[in-house]
Amino acid sequence: MSAYICVVVLTVSALGSSTVASELLKRPTNVRLTSHNMNLVLKWDPPEGTTSDMVYTTMYRSSATDYRIGCSNISSFECDFTALKISQYGNYTGRVQALLGEESSNWVESNYITLDTDTVIGSPTVSLSSNGPTLEVTIQDPVLSILTLRDVYNGVTYNITYWKKGQNEKARSIANMQQNRVVLNDLGPRTKYCVQVQINTDKNRNPSQPSNITCESTANEQEAPWVAALVAFVIMAVAVALLVVVVVYWKSISQFLCPKDALPPHFESLLAHPKSNIYLQLSPAEEICHRCSIIAGDRTVEEGDPLEAAGSSCSQQPDVIVEER
Ligand SMILES: *[C@@H]1O[C@H](CO)[C@@H](O)[C@H](O)[C@H]1NC(C)=O
Ligand SMILES: *[C@@H]1O[C@H](CO)[C@@H](O)[C@H](O)[C@H]1NC(C)=O
Ligand SMILES: *[C@@H]1O[C@H](CO)[C@@H](O)[C@H](O)[C@H]1NC(C)=O
Ligand SMILES: *[C@@H]1O[C@H](CO)[C@@H](O)[C@H](O)[C@H]1NC(C)=O
Repeated sequence: MSAYICVVVLTVSALGSSTVASELLKRPTNVRLTSHNMNLVLKWDPPEGTTSDMVYTTMYRSSATDYRIGCSNISSFECDFTALKISQYGNYTGRVQALLGEESSNWVESNYITLDTDTVIGSPTVSLSSNGPTLEVTIQDPVLSILTLRDVYNGVTYNITYWKKGQNEKARSIANMQQNRVVLNDLGPRTKYCVQVQINTDKNRNPSQPSNITCESTANEQEAPWVAALVAFVIMAVAVALLVVVVVYWKSISQFLCPKDALPPHFESLLAHPKSNIYLQLSPAEEICHRCSIIAGDRTVEEGDPLEAAGSSCSQQPDVIVEER
């Protein structure tokens, strides 16, 4: 309709018949409704031959409402509708009219914009930190004019592209990442890598604007901290187990290492206290004693006794002494 009027106006003025055209100002051109990070801004170019007195009035509407006034009598070439209670799901259009004194142009309508599907999502902010031969990528969503990215979109994923600095053609991508912290661990040590991230959403037609390219060097190979922790834990567990075993079986162990000297059986009768009455009557006047030394080192040979396991490290008990007179 407006295009038709425009064609008529142009045709009429081109023909030199100025009766219709003289009452109308020339119209703004290139009228477009734009949205960046969920704002809503109408922009236009001034008509040809415009003067500094020219002002503009704009209106907007969603497909569910009538036109409402946006900006009145402004001299700039854009009007921001964002503050006027716009909805994330709204399907909007705008229009603009040029005014000069009493004269006015026809309205010029813009394109339609549905905010959540058409808005241009700005670039995320990316920061990198190196940890050994890996890089941790932290992504911050762009700030939107209304709501947050995750309020507007249920499905938000990141497409992380990374490459060795200077080898852009060998870039690798991890798509569909839902976390905003990602560790890149297929990297080489002491190498500079660059990372760029784009956001994909479930509803928007386009991915976000790509992030700034951020580069960072990886560090040296190093054991992951959990490996060191595991090793320390195992060592401690073994030490504790050993300690427990030693405490519980201390008797057996000490007997094994340092067996008590046992007398060969035929000496035991000599050590036993005499019990017969005759003997008791004789004592304490006289005890009949034979001196007999049992020496650990060679007694197996001398006495043929079964004590083979006399530990050499054990302190020797004093020799059993049986005296004989
Ligand atoms: C805009 O300018 C026109 C003409 O100069 C005037 O009649 C109108 O009241 C103005 N509108 C506003 C909202 O100031
Ligand atoms: C927005 O509304 C216009 C006019 O009603 C319609 O032609 C257009 O298809 C709508 N856009 C969407 C995405 O629904
Ligand atoms: C990208 O870099 C430019 C210039 O260094 C900076 O102004 C801009 O804020 C950066 N963008 C983001 C999303 O960090
Ligand atoms: C991820 O980004 C790379 C580089 O821009 C692109 O080639 C690839 O198609 C993207 N993948 C998805 C699933 O968006």
